Amino acid sequence: MSLISTNSRKHVISLKDLSPQETLEIINRGIEYSNGNVEQGYQLKNKVLGVYFKKTSTRTRTAFTTAALRLGAQVIAYGPNDLQLNTGETMGDTLQVLSRMLDGLVLRTAESPKILKAFANQKKMSIVNAMTEDEHPTQALADLTTIKQYFGELSGLEIVYLGEGNNTTTALALAIAKFSNMKINFFTPPNYNIDPMLLKYAQEEGKKRNTTIKEFHDLRKLPKNADIVYTTRWQTTGTTKPDPNWRKVFEPFTVTEELMNTYTDAIFMHDLPAHRGDEVEASVIDGVNSIVFNQAENKAHSAKAVLEWCMH
Ligand code: CP
Repeated sequence: MSLISTNSRKHVISLKDLSPQETLEIINRGIEYSNGNVEQGYQLKNKVLGVYFKKTSTRTRTAFTTAALRLGAQVIAYGPNDLQLNTGETMGDTLQVLSRMLDGLVLRTAESPKILKAFANQKKMSIVNAMTEDEHPTQALADLTTIKQYFGELSGLEIVYLGEGNNTTTALALAIAKFSNMKINFFTPPNYNIDPMLLKYAQEEGKKRNTTIKEFHDLRKLPKNADIVYTTRWQTTGTTKPDPNWRKVFEPFTVTEELMNTYTDAIFMHDLPAHRGDEVEASVIDGVNSIVFNQAENKAHSAKAVLEWCMH
């Protein structure tokens, strides 16, 4: 027995689970929404979406909530203290119960995606990973939506990333690996690298499509060309680092005006929130080559594409 009727819902838990074709479909649909080419309001009519954020969020939470409302769904928002998870109910039991009542659940937890994966064999309730400790898949989908919208294509683009190897970088590597003839060079501080297993997986996937994904710690290896310079906040969701001297290790990885001047015409991207003076100089993020607020807006358009793909 179930209060919901369909048995064909899909999930976005890890980008590893999406085929290149499915990824492209979501990106292209996000561009259509962003360009204002889609009539909205019927796609998720009569659907109920839960939005549960255990961790802070401005963009992702608002993007998925507004996306669901604009596509005709009704939304239940759960804050970090609202569910019985707080009093000891397991995530497994919570997901079991919610799947009998909701059509979809967008959730940001502090946990590994394993618990979400364990739930992926049910198709009653779509699950969308709005960021786990090791992957931020909907960020990468929104980013590639922005990049393809800006440049018209993905093939041939070269990206330089400076900063921590975190869940956004992992997702970016996994997403780019699905497309042909791209190049991304991640420059991360020593000991703050991308998860080696996920990086290796992305590199092997990319190689099949002539896409190169590399990680360096030595800034002398910065490439001569870049179409995009990307960074993220050094303290993801405000978390602190155990090493009291971590800032010293990160400082050389700041995206400066001087660095941007070496890449004429390169655009600047940042998943936000930003800390001006840490990972990026104010003149860069507030400069003419920065597209960070279009990038942020596209999270909402990409969220519509994700929800439609999962639940329509
Ligand atoms: N980029 C991003 O995920 O932003 P929020 O943490 O505000 O959702």
